[in-house]
Amino acid sequence: MSFDLAGQIVSTWGFGAIPGTAIRARAGDILEVAVRNDLPEDLSIHWHGIAIRNDMDGVHDLTQPPIQPGSAFTFRFAVPDPGTYWFHPHTGLQLDRGLYAPLIVDDPAEPLVFDHDETLVFDDWLDGLGRNPEQALVEARQRMSSMSGMGGMAGMGSADTGGGSATGMSMTSTLLDGDAGDVTYPLHLVNGRPPADRPTMTVASGDRVRLRLINAGSDTAYRVAVGGHRMTVTHADGFAVESVEVDTLVLGMGERYDVVVTARSGAWPIVAAAEGKGASAEAVLRTTDASASTAPPVGVTPVELAGQVLTYNDLRALSTVALPNAMTDRERDVALTGDMMSYNWGIDGRSFADHKPIDVKLGERVRLVLRNKTAMWHPMHLHGHTFRIGGRPDGPRKDTVNVLPGQNVIIDFDADNPGQWMMHCHNTYHLESGMATVVSYVR
Ligand code: C2O
Ligand code: CU
Repeated sequence: MSFDLAGQIVSTWGFGAIPGTAIRARAGDILEVAVRNDLPEDLSIHWHGIAIRNDMDGVHDLTQPPIQPGSAFTFRFAVPDPGTYWFHPHTGLQLDRGLYAPLIVDDPAEPLVFDHDETLVFDDWLDGLGRNPEQALVEARQRMSSMSGMGGMAGMGSADTGGGSATGMSMTSTLLDGDAGDVTYPLHLVNGRPPADRPTMTVASGDRVRLRLINAGSDTAYRVAVGGHRMTVTHADGFAVESVEVDTLVLGMGERYDVVVTARSGAWPIVAAAEGKGASAEAVLRTTDASASTAPPVGVTPVELAGQVLTYNDLRALSTVALPNAMTDRERDVALTGDMMSYNWGIDGRSFADHKPIDVKLGERVRLVLRNKTAMWHPMHLHGHTFRIGGRPDGPRKDTVNVLPGQNVIIDFDADNPGQWMMHCHNTYHLESGMATVVSYVR
């Protein structure tokens, strides 16, 4: 499909629009989604965060065969839990084109009070702007080897293309404790639109605006803030948390947060800064009483971006969604590994191609300790389950968790959804380079 980036037309892949039109359901519904593959290669669709039946999870060759070019598949599954989810392909680097869309599951007994319900999907964009994802992967490999060849210095002699001034230099972030990413992007988008064509949300002054924030990027963490406002965080990865107010929060790839802001009179920037990359995705929150001539300048950096940042320790699961207390039946370490030099990311020192599954049994309480042995952060995602993080009884329920370099993160979950479930890094380039394994139910 062709895609208009503020007047620059590129040819890319999408679900008809970018992002694809949101699918909206109610908790408990059975969803039926007919997918036809008009792409020149195999496709698969994964329903990120949903505790889905395994044969609908959309991981080609693990849970089902791929959807071949010119053929179709109808997914049919129950959506048990309300929340903010999304869907995307699980094949190659397809996610780093425009193939992504929100999946919003409403709560029939919604306790939250708000006047507007808006979804903001952030994405790092490169397709059609000088290179495609396959070329970006080649570059990332070259960049890594040139960096290591220079003893960790930025690889100035590298033959990178793409034109970004940051290309070939290291992108670092204090919040991510080092290397922020492997790929440079010419644009960052909110709901498919670059800063030069940023979307505006118009609300009445004093309205409560629920923002569902989704990071659909492939190699970029977004630090999000609303100028002139604090945000009240209400949900993490779709599951309710005790409300907590912050100035800003960081979403790794695959993560979602729901926040509520009470709109102050005026026109305010909503900025998703590409962490460590010196660029942003932008939108505007405008109240109906704001004078038509006021608008935040494009490229503005609201002070909130440098304010109090949400940490996982600030999050407490609401008692209604907390993982019940139970003894751990099975515990094991999971090492996140990778050799920067050859860009062969892995788990327990193995690439996905020769992974050893993590065996669990139905009914067990499982504890995994994710140990990041690499010099880079990884947003780790488990399919089919929503784990509790941090090992504490009120730890938030999530399906994706950022593990910083050298850090260990405990995740606990109930093995209550039998099948073969991917667990992997949600950096598209790391996943494609092998950073994945399978949580496998055995009898
Ligand atoms: Cu959203 Cu296996 O991923
Ligand atoms: Cu990774």
